[in-house]
Amino acid sequence: MSHVVAFDLMQKDIRLVEERMYAQADNHNPDLQAAIRHLVISGGKRVRPTLTLLVGEMLGGEKDRLVTLAASIELLHTATLVHDDLIDGSLLRRGIPTLNAKWSPGATVLTGDFIFATAARLAAETESVRVMRLFAETLAIIVNGEITQMFQSQGLASREDYYLRIYAKTASMFELSTSAAAMLSPVDEDVITMMRKFGYQIGMAFQIVDDILDFTGDQVRVGKPVASDLRQGLITLPALYYLELHPDDPTMKAITTGSVSEKALQELVRDIRSSGAIQLALDEAKTFVQKALQKIQQFPDHPARQSMIELANYIVDREL
Ligand code: IPE
Ligand code: IPE
Ligand code: MG
Ligand code: MG
Repeated sequence: MSHVVAFDLMQKDIRLVEERMYAQADNHNPDLQAAIRHLVISGGKRVRPTLTLLVGEMLGGEKDRLVTLAASIELLHTATLVHDDLIDGSLLRRGIPTLNAKWSPGATVLTGDFIFATAARLAAETESVRVMRLFAETLAIIVNGEITQMFQSQGLASREDYYLRIYAKTASMFELSTSAAAMLSPVDEDVITMMRKFGYQIGMAFQIVDDILDFTGDQVRVGKPVASDLRQGLITLPALYYLELHPDDPTMKAITTGSVSEKALQELVRDIRSSGAIQLALDEAKTFVQKALQKIQQFPDHPARQSMIELANYIVDREL
């Protein structure tokens, strides 16, 4: 990660963001404090807060408020993952045991709730009602997406469904990261809209790559079991393309009904990997990144803008 210059520029400010995150548990229950410490230490790539800081830096926003916003967004991300891992029964994230691997479901739910509360408090500390509204709307979109996925009638989803799903779970939070930073900066409405679209495009690309890595990734690097989506009966873009190339694949048909042996699943993963499906999905992610880059082309040259370009390119280049 340290090889990505885009992250270097904001490294110092990301430390400030992490300090803000830690501080949220001060004067609360020691177990909550320990849990939050564990979650912050085992943090991930910090893509969302880095984006927030870069957009704000480019647009001349006030540093303090941007750090507050970035901490709010990363805590929102963290809270959704705490609940998601419980819902999915995932015991590992980023190679580290999840909260639900150690704690009861009840304690895990409550800790997630606490983190949501701290995220909302920080959003309020930006003193922008507009940012607070967007924060709340984004959380609603994410939860709506998760519940839709949970209750979706079994069957093979279309590419359209897939896009709606990845918007809800990922691109919506990227939109929040970029447009809320613009809202805290001295810019016109059209710049806020442009930044929202930029966040949307790289968020979509980010999730497509995430879904590709579920097939091609190295389990140790990615930090979670490979092909976990397929195993959960979740059809993502590589699988959708594979299905278009091989409409009669019997394992593919059986996957959404859940009655597939481990051996058949492994074979299917191999087939998907060696088909053109991965490349087709990657091409699509690259198209999203190209569109994102068009959005920021018209801004004057600035180190933060340069880092945003690098970050956008890193999204389709990453291995975890
Ligand atoms: C994981 O997000 C959940 C998704 C929405 C794909 P990230 O891949 O951004 O996780 P970290 O925070 O970098 O680990
Ligand atoms: C997690 O989604 C992200 C949220 C929507 C909150 P997934 O369950 O698909 O992602 P991973 O595989 O756990 O990161
Ligand atoms: Mg999930
Ligand atoms: Mg999950």
